[in-house]
Amino acid sequence: MSDKKTVSLALSNVSHSYGTTSVLQTLNLQVKNGEVVVLVGPSGCGKTTILNLLSGHLQPSTGRVQRTGNIRTVYQHDGLFPWLTVEENIAMGLRSVSDTAQREKEKQDLVELIHLRGFENHYPHQLSGGMRQRVELARALAGQSDILLMDEPFSALDYQTRLRMRLELVRILEQRPRTVVFVTHDIEEAAQLADRVLVLSSRPATVCRELEILTPRPRDLTGSTVIETMKTILMELGLQH
Ligand SMILES: Nc1ncnc2c1ncn2[C@@H]1O[C@H](COP(=O)(O)OP(=O)(O)OP(=O)(O)O)[C@@H](O)[C@H]1O
Ligand SMILES: [Mg+2]
Repeated sequence: MSDKKTVSLALSNVSHSYGTTSVLQTLNLQVKNGEVVVLVGPSGCGKTTILNLLSGHLQPSTGRVQRTGNIRTVYQHDGLFPWLTVEENIAMGLRSVSDTAQREKEKQDLVELIHLRGFENHYPHQLSGGMRQRVELARALAGQSDILLMDEPFSALDYQTRLRMRLELVRILEQRPRTVVFVTHDIEEAAQLADRVLVLSSRPATVCRELEILTPRPRDLTGSTVIETMKTILMELGLQH
């Protein structure tokens, strides 16, 4: 991965409407190479729309989208292929690797990374929600992708699994750094993952606060003021009571 100062993703003066509903208005956003940016904001403000614009799934009504590198997405819904095993699902992320031996090695490394050795030949329905989510993560991390876009990837999981997945992601990013844009409603998740938290206003979304978190990961949030600061910001903005 190249210089951390290089911009990896950018929205410049981006506006977007669905029909007559204006969702984004002249939004500017930059994500640097290797940076983990977390988006928080009220439901319906346009977070998923922003990710879809960044990924290219959606074209902005006006403005410019820049991306340097290839993108993988992890969404809230279970996106695994039910007819493929754990190993085969992960291999879908490795289609661009032409060398068979390298592909096999990478697949094994990823199975190891997500602690699913012994479950390679299981089908998604034979796994727990957390295990499925880890397979999704492995598939997204497979190959040469530089950018991960994650839309509330852990929100459907129970609290304990969510905690574990969050720490797992921190560990994985340490081993294989990526540029990440992560959407969440969970303040703790934001505080533990983000280099920078962007707080969005309600529709049309603008970035109304920015909070840089310099503490290195993994973070112990005990006694940390980050969560309190975020709560105060959200309360001031009327986004939390
Ligand atoms: N395909 C679509 N067609 C029409 N309107 C849409 C479409 N997708 C989203 N919207 C509208 O755009 C607005 C923003 O939606 P978006 O999904 O980006 O919000 P969000 O911030 O991700 O919300 P949540 O936190 O609930 O996931 C909403 O008002 C929604 O109704
Ligand atoms: Mg959304």
